[in-house]
Amino acid sequence: MNFIVAVDGPAASGKGTISRAIAARFGFTHLDTGLLYRAVARRVIDGEDPVVVARTLRSRDLERSDLRSVQVSRKASHVAADRRVRNALVGFQRDFAHSRGGAVLDGRDIGTVICPDADCKIFVFASDEVRAERRYLELSQRDPSIDLERVLRDIRDRDARDRGRAIAPLRPAENAVPLDTSQLTIEEASACAASIVDKAIRGDARTA
Ligand code: DC
Repeated sequence: MNFIVAVDGPAASGKGTISRAIAARFGFTHLDTGLLYRAVARRVIDGEDPVVVARTLRSRDLERSDLRSVQVSRKASHVAADRRVRNALVGFQRDFAHSRGGAVLDGRDIGTVICPDADCKIFVFASDEVRAERRYLELSQRDPSIDLERVLRDIRDRDARDRGRAIAPLRPAENAVPLDTSQLTIEEASACAASIVDKAIRGDARTA
């Protein structure tokens, strides 16, 4: 079976966790496409050209341990607005989506641009405050000096850039099932997502 699940949503909405849970539950492979933009951003911060990097991205670039920092997150959102960078990364994502056995990809434009014909599309979101709190808890483990207001501002800035860019802006695909995780635990959100995928496999995703 080749079944494609597209999971889109803003920063810290829970889409990564949900996608990993779907992959584990249904035996699909998973690609966190944000990691591609983060890996490009990391090398751009180190002084390389974004388009050259995107065209020559290596798997070891995705394995670096410093891709989740605030600095890399910000830069990723900037490099992601460059049409040439995005175009250079399309082929890899589409090839991955068609891996045998099924795939789940999470990002911003999976249901709209990368896999418009995905078998199941989910748009994950949560309030700004809840998302900032989640990101704060994650970042403050590495850097106790981080402050919540700053994290909230960063998330809002990044969302505005990701939603407002001319190419492949963040938005729900028309036939995406919305999933608000603001009031849900990880287990509840994962269970809702699994039920959406289950229904899509049985052919009635729109009624999830
Ligand atoms: O999902 P993330 O926070 O790791 O993504 C980092 C940045 O990469 C995000 O601000 C926007 C960009 N991105 C994108 O433009 N398209 C995707 N499919 C995934 C991420």
